[in-house]
Amino acid sequence: MTDTIHIHVSINGNEVTDSVIPRMTLLDFLRYKAGMTGTHAGCEHGVCGACSVIFDGDPVRSCSLLAVQANGKSVMTVEGLSNADGTPGTLQEAFQDAHAMQCGYCIPGMLVSAHALLARNAAPSLEDIKEAIGGNICRCTGYVQIIEAIQLAATRLREALE
Ligand code: FES
Ligand code: FES
Repeated sequence: MTDTIHIHVSINGNEVTDSVIPRMTLLDFLRYKAGMTGTHAGCEHGVCGACSVIFDGDPVRSCSLLAVQANGKSVMTVEGLSNADGTPGTLQEAFQDAHAMQCGYCIPGMLVSAHALLARNAAPSLEDIKEAIGGNICRCTGYVQIIEAIQLAATRLREALE
């Protein structure tokens, strides 16, 4: 029988404690142990970006980390972008309004990468946005609307601060 390891992770501000097998990825932990199914599994080898989450403040690919590496850390998933009452947050609303979703599979990763960008750069240029989502693949090739959505969210977030 495989030994399990006890881990304690802050997920979207909630403390989660569980036991995991050592080889469990952070992606599988988030989806199957913590119920954060908004984090999508795509390539599962670090290429597509569908599994992106914020890990101690930085965007990472959760399929490329082990759950045990998250022990004592804080993780923000796409669910953490919603408002406290569960309604879509500014970034999610901008994606809706800009029609930036086709099948939607890449969108959680796109939202997380966009959030990481806007957290450090409130007025990103087109090049900044392209670079920020450069590691996120959209098989539906909806990049134009996704970029427009991020520009819209940036504008709305800046206006909210005025
Ligand atoms: S599922 Fe993690 S990068 Fe593709
Ligand atoms: S909207 Fe389908 S993969 Fe991006």
